[in-house]
Amino acid sequence: MDLGMKDKVAMVTGGSQGIGRAIALGLAREGVRVAICGRTPDILEATAESIESETGVRVLPVIADVMVAADLERFVQATVEEFGTVDIAINNADLITHDVGFFDLRDEDWQEKMDLKLFAPIRLTRLVAPIMQANGWGRIINIGGSSARKVHEVGWAKGATQPGLINLTKRLAWLLGRDGITVNLVEPGIVWTEGHTRTGGKSRAEARSEALAQRAEREGISYEEMDRLALAELVIGRRIESEDVANIVVFMASPLSGAVTGETILVDGGEMPTVRF
Ligand SMILES: NC(=O)c1ccc[n+]([C@@H]2O[C@H](COP(=O)([O-])OP(=O)(O)OC[C@H]3O[C@@H](n4cnc5c(N)ncnc54)[C@H](OP(=O)(O)O)[C@@H]3O)[C@@H](O)[C@H]2O)c1
Repeated sequence: MDLGMKDKVAMVTGGSQGIGRAIALGLAREGVRVAICGRTPDILEATAESIESETGVRVLPVIADVMVAADLERFVQATVEEFGTVDIAINNADLITHDVGFFDLRDEDWQEKMDLKLFAPIRLTRLVAPIMQANGWGRIINIGGSSARKVHEVGWAKGATQPGLINLTKRLAWLLGRDGITVNLVEPGIVWTEGHTRTGGKSRAEARSEALAQRAEREGISYEEMDRLALAELVIGRRIESEDVANIVVFMASPLSGAVTGETILVDGGEMPTVRF
């Protein structure tokens, strides 16, 4: 299917690795010119080069920390200088952090999650929405997380922050809808990206094993039983890959999704055991 996005311009925060990289690649495959940002120059530049050589589409790497307002301004400026405009903004950057309990979290841990998950999308939207309003078309997609809907003993900072992003998404959709701009949120379930590896400097498989072992201990069951349950929780019977999330994001970034706005779309392999109305 031709999504009708050729030559549009997208910005993907945290586009150098994991889900962000898959989104940037997915957009470039549709002919979208993409600017990606991240803090680690060699990884960022290698990603831009590899997407460019695979798709033949220009990918602009901009070293920027989304927690720094001036960096976000520079990211937008560099994108406009290179491509002339911004049509699509994907707020994806985040740090997958070690899960600790409420009393072990410091103020700076809470602040970091709020800066990444709320302030960065607020600031980027403030910068790109006027450009999209002038164009009469735009797509803003926030990447949340299914932890917004879960209550368990870890994941406090993301659990408390992500619902704010859902509310922000809905409000912005109402604010910007008549300007041709849709604002949606995509919530991945667990995807074994580089972020999980980085938290402990382990391979993806090791990181997954460790997380499962911790969960098995918490729930008082064997590792094997936990492994079986974790897979069985996924209604689709397999793990979710970055590309599963990226495919939905790319569609939501396309002109074909124009009648959907303010929505939260779960990409969790059916894990969430609730019905939403
Ligand atoms: N993976 C999951 O299981 C999962 C589940 C639910 C939701 N999500 C959400 O999905 C999104 C992507 O997660 P992921 O697993 O793909 O993460 P990841 O593999 O750790 O990749 C994160 C990306 O963000 C960049 N980044 C981190 N902090 C940044 C900062 N301050 N400024 C600019 N870039 C920054 C990283 O590059 P640098 O470190 O070089 O800056 C990297 O490119 C996040 O919003 C996350 O909350 C993921």
